[in-house]
Amino acid sequence: MDSSILFEPFTFNNGVKTDSRIAVAPLTLFSSNPDGTVNEAESLFLSTRADHIGLYIQGATAVTKNGLTFPCQPQAIAESDLDSLARRAAVIKGQGALSIVQIHHGGEFANPAFTGEQALSSSAHGEVRALDEEQIEKIVEGFAHATELCIRSGNDGIEIHGANQYLLQQFFSAKTNHRTDRYGGSITNRLRFPLQVVEAVCAVRERLNRPDFIIGYRLSPEEPGENGITMTQTLTLLEALTEKPIQYVHISQWNFNKMVRRGAGLGTTRLKVIHDALGGRLPVIGVGGLLSLTDYVEAMQSGFAEFVGCGKSVMMNPHLGTRLYGARAEEIVTALDPDKEDHYGIPDPLWTMCKKGEAWLPPLKGAVPRTGAVNSAADY
Ligand SMILES: Cc1cc2nc3c(=O)[nH]c(=O)nc-3n(C[C@H](O)[C@H](O)[C@H](O)COP(=O)(O)O)c2cc1C
Repeated sequence: MDSSILFEPFTFNNGVKTDSRIAVAPLTLFSSNPDGTVNEAESLFLSTRADHIGLYIQGATAVTKNGLTFPCQPQAIAESDLDSLARRAAVIKGQGALSIVQIHHGGEFANPAFTGEQALSSSAHGEVRALDEEQIEKIVEGFAHATELCIRSGNDGIEIHGANQYLLQQFFSAKTNHRTDRYGGSITNRLRFPLQVVEAVCAVRERLNRPDFIIGYRLSPEEPGENGITMTQTLTLLEALTEKPIQYVHISQWNFNKMVRRGAGLGTTRLKVIHDALGGRLPVIGVGGLLSLTDYVEAMQSGFAEFVGCGKSVMMNPHLGTRLYGARAEEIVTALDPDKEDHYGIPDPLWTMCKKGEAWLPPLKGAVPRTGAVNSAADY
């Protein structure tokens, strides 16, 4: 099979070019040092994953201490984080990919064991407290400052993590946002915080005069439940994003071909609806369950995404980009062999999780194949 469609040049609206349409989806590795600094195992993983890749999007990187969510999570909070941010960027850029840092606040999923305080979100529930306006402002500043650190450390861009139920989504979704102030109620109000983050991040780029620095936004297009995000609401968010000087949107899904659940575009795939609505105003990264050469080529051929993302596949295949470039289909594995730990170079904490065979992680060789949705439990 010819894979050249995956390697057609692309130029972003700020003039940055790439020769690969493959994006490595952000992967939390749970494997930096406890203070978020980079270590050898993490570097080793990165050093074999960014060849023939367009965008290498690094896993969720905390922007404020009160957003820390995962053990050993990378951070872009303080001057002392610059060195690790620079070292990761160098490893990725050395292989030819653009190094993009996903900037993140966990909101209600922030872990008190790492933050030292109760988790904060749009609204209070259980142990979670609602953010007041001053705290919201501090987090917006955190996203801006993280962007500045990413620029100064030589990264090529940032991706705002507005997906997977973390803080930005907790504001956007009427399911989680029950505020009665200017940050809650109408969709305009629920969009206020995410858009403030976008504006603050763009302002940093402007101030540092770095128009070549890429800014992307990742979102989850739908949520289940009565008040969950609908496709109609997502199109409103996307419309607002097209008015900002950003470079791409990234649609977080576990299945590239997932159909619309409700709202606009019912009966077709979410990516088609999104891509049609954007009409080329912003490029789209589509992701979810792409494993084989055929999967990637067909996803590109669908025409619903300018970039195709790989998460689990890049964990299972060191040098995935080069294998796709050479159309070496037989060298691309679609399951992890638990006996070949050394082959993958997956850092120990993540490898230990992989060996348990949880549904959101790469399938294990010999396990009963999963049927139906790639990951129905997590596929909101
Ligand atoms: C180990 C692991 C870590 C992940 N970490 C992140 C993350 O930090 N940020 C994020 O937005 N998504 C994260 N995801 C979701 C992936 O980016 C991707 O959307 C998902 O795995 C579906 O794509 P795939 O089928 O190619 O793996 C993670 C997924 C896995 C398996």
